Amino acid sequence: MEIIKKIELMQEVSDKWRRGGNIISCVPTMGFLHQGHVELLSVGREKGDRLIMTIFVNPTQFGPHEDYQRYPQDTEGDLDKARSAGVDAVFMPTVEKMYPDGFQSTVTVDNITQYLCGKSRPRHFAGVTVVVAKLFNITKPHLAIFGEKDYQQLVVIKQMVRDLNMDIDIIGVPTVREKDGLAMSSRNNYLSPEERLSALSLKKGLDFAKKMVAEGERDSAKIKNAVRELILSHPFTEIDYITICDTEKLTDMENIDRPSLLALAVRVGKTRLIDNIIVRTN
Ligand code: PAJ
Repeated sequence: MEIIKKIELMQEVSDKWRRGGNIISCVPTMGFLHQGHVELLSVGREKGDRLIMTIFVNPTQFGPHEDYQRYPQDTEGDLDKARSAGVDAVFMPTVEKMYPDGFQSTVTVDNITQYLCGKSRPRHFAGVTVVVAKLFNITKPHLAIFGEKDYQQLVVIKQMVRDLNMDIDIIGVPTVREKDGLAMSSRNNYLSPEERLSALSLKKGLDFAKKMVAEGERDSAKIKNAVRELILSHPFTEIDYITICDTEKLTDMENIDRPSLLALAVRVGKTRLIDNIIVRTN
C-alpha cells in the first residue's frame, strides 16, 4: 500500500493507473476509521481495480465553535485497517498543501445546502464541496463512495458532480450500525457511557416513526412530535432538527404521500449526532 502525502505524486500515480486501463475508486474520509468506513472501502475494492482512500481532517467544513481542534485521530490504526481492506493508496495531505496561502476559490451548491444540517452549520457544505472537488481532481477517480449516514452530504456531492460535469460515479452505501442500532460515527468516541445510552434515542426515534407510518400515519407533524418526545425522554438530549422531506430536493413534506427522508440531528451532551432513514409508504 502506498502512503502518499504530496498532491503531485498522487496525481502522477492516478494518471499512471488510468493509462494502464484501471478503474479507480476513491473513498474520502477524515480518518479515525470504523466499520462504516471499512464498508465503503469494501464497496470501492469490489467496484474498482485500484482503490484510493483519502484521510484529511478538512478545516473548512468545521464551524468556529466545532470540534476541528479535537477531532479524533489514529493514523496507525487507520493505515492498518486500510491495508486489511485492500487499499492501494492512502492520500493524506497536510492542511498547508491543501489550502496554501492565497487560496481563494469556492465550490458551492445552493438550494439543498440550506436545509437540515445547513441551517445549523451554515458554511459546512461549502467546506465539504470545495475539499471533495479538490480530492477528486487529485485522485482522479472513476467512482467515489459515500455513506448514506451523511445523507445530505451524499445528495450535495451528487448535485455538484452533475452540475459541474465531473465524470465520476457517486455511489451511496447504507448506514452501518452498532449491534444496538447506534449509527457508527467517529464522533461516538466523545460520548460518556451515560450519553452513549441516550444516543440510542436517535435510532429508537427513527424506528418509532417507521412504525407509525407502517400503521398508516401520514401526517409529518404528528410523527415529528412523537419522535421529539421520545428523544427528549432520554437525558442529555437536545434536538437540533427533526425533518421529513423529499429524498432529492430535501424540501419539507407535510404529508407522507411518497418515500421520504426522515433525518435528525440531536445533541447528546456536547456531541452532535445525526441519523436518518428512508420512510416508505408501502
Ligand atoms: P467522515 O465523517 O470521515 O466520513 C467518511 C465517509 O464515511 C462519508 O462518506 C460518510 O458518510 C461515511 N460514513 C460515516 N459513518 C458511516 C456509517 N455509519 N455507515 C456508512 N458510512 C458511513 O464525511 C466526511 O468524513 C467528510 O465530510 C468528507 C466527505 C471526507 C469530506 O471532508
